[in-house]
Amino acid sequence: MNELRVESYQDAYAALCEPALRQSLYDAGAVIMDSVLLTLHGTAHKARRQLELRVFRREVLREYEREVFPATLQGTLAPFVAAGRADLVDFGYRVTMNLTADFAGIDRPLGTPAETLKLLELVRTFSEGATLVHSTRDHAEVRVEVEAALGQFVDQFLASSMARRRALLDDGVPPERLDVLTVLLANEDRIDLSDEVLVREIGFYLQAGAHSTANSMVHAVDELFGWLARTPAAAEVRKERLRSEPDFLQRCVHESLRLHPASPVAWRTPVKPVTLRDGRRLEPGDRLVIDLARANCDPSVFGEDAATFNPERKINPQRRIRGRKIYPFGLTFGTGVHLCPGRDLDGGIADDNTSPTHMRGIVTMLVEALLSHGARRDPDMPPIRDQTTQRSNWAQYPVLLEPAG
Ligand code: HEM
Repeated sequence: MNELRVESYQDAYAALCEPALRQSLYDAGAVIMDSVLLTLHGTAHKARRQLELRVFRREVLREYEREVFPATLQGTLAPFVAAGRADLVDFGYRVTMNLTADFAGIDRPLGTPAETLKLLELVRTFSEGATLVHSTRDHAEVRVEVEAALGQFVDQFLASSMARRRALLDDGVPPERLDVLTVLLANEDRIDLSDEVLVREIGFYLQAGAHSTANSMVHAVDELFGWLARTPAAAEVRKERLRSEPDFLQRCVHESLRLHPASPVAWRTPVKPVTLRDGRRLEPGDRLVIDLARANCDPSVFGEDAATFNPERKINPQRRIRGRKIYPFGLTFGTGVHLCPGRDLDGGIADDNTSPTHMRGIVTMLVEALLSHGARRDPDMPPIRDQTTQRSNWAQYPVLLEPAG
């Protein structure tokens, strides 16, 4: 097998848009990722994606951001504020677990922290299975754990969530909110979907959104702490800007998202011989590594200081690559047919914040809530990197909090 790599923004963009390249990063994680949306290719992918994208329509996302998520955020943060401290990784997973369960369509009838924690425990195991390619643990052992977690997930959460939605559909009662499970059960497009695939699809949705959102939030807070600490003389002015300019805070989050893509690489394998933008050839069985982290730091697109956190960075708004504008978060949400459907939900829509189409994005909302409670590093407990994966995630990130001023 031949392995090629692309690292420039333009080459990465072109590769992500090449229809003859199929997803291959999750081949090792088939125990949870086989035939889920992210690993499907061609017409099967298009059909499933069209069906599921109904859940990610902008009006649905906007209503969720404005009407549903603030209560989830407040309820999850309150006990941490009362304790005067939080581990950002723990907080991030608890809050985003509820977010992705809402989108996937998993009911939490008790609404208790213990119930969220149970779901979280299962979903952490799914995540380990999905990102097996980057895991430093014994792969066979992880697979056994994922199989067991899938069984528990069906018994404790999925079966009852399916039954409630089936009953509503049978009675012709419209759901209070659209979710992936509902659209898959209604299956208005009559796509091919076995029960086994449905279980993995919902499990995949739960972990895809939770893992990436929680990690993105921790990275954004860490970058902001670093930005404030680097220039102590300007720290108070900068803090005030973060407090009073919500657009600027969103800009900071986008800058952090650019520097910390959820997965540093995407992998693709050709379904037929492919010639890359730079003229190199790939044959079926070869692997193309698309280095998203490096593409996001391409100086020809993001400037000479592309590798540093600089929320003042200017990106030429007129510049287009393959006819598309350049997003301040680069290729962190991917592009092409697998473009992340959670992009606007998590990143928001960075237009004029008085516009009715504006969205702050979940990651910005999380960071804003933490800053409003004076979040600062715990001087006695430094953050710890996650050693169980080659991804640059945090295992623990303790912060101190205060009641809102
Ligand atoms: C900061 C947060 C997030 C990041 C950085 C992120 C990143 C990505 C990336 C890079 C891809 C494409 C991977 C590839 O092309 O190989 C992707 C796909 C996907 N993401 Fe996200 N994601 C985030 C949040 C979410 C959320 C909140 C959800 C759901 C609620 C979600 C659901 C999905 C799904 C379903 C796909 C597969 C799309 C397809 O294959 O058609 N993501 N995400």
